[in-house]
Amino acid sequence: MNDLVTVIKGVIKAEDGAIAQCEKIIRLCDQVDFVRQDLCVTVLGDEQEHRRAFVGYLTEFERKSSKH
Ligand SMILES: [Fe+2]
Repeated sequence: MNDLVTVIKGVIKAEDGAIAQCEKIIRLCDQVDFVRQDLCVTVLGDEQEHRRAFVGYLTEFERKSSKH
C-alpha cells in the first residue's frame, strides 16, 4: 500500500510539472500564437483533471491504509 502511495505522489508531482509547463506556454503564446495557446489551454484542462483524479486516489488510499 505504501509503494502505491509513493507512485501516486510521483504522478501528482508529474502532473504539477505538466500544468506548470502548460501555463508557461500559454503565457509565452499570448498575443503571438493563438492556435498553440488554445491547444495548451485544452491540454492544461486535461492535466488538471488527471491531477484531481490522482489527488482523489491518494486521499482514498491514505484513508484505507490508516484503517489497517
Ligand atoms: Fe497528465
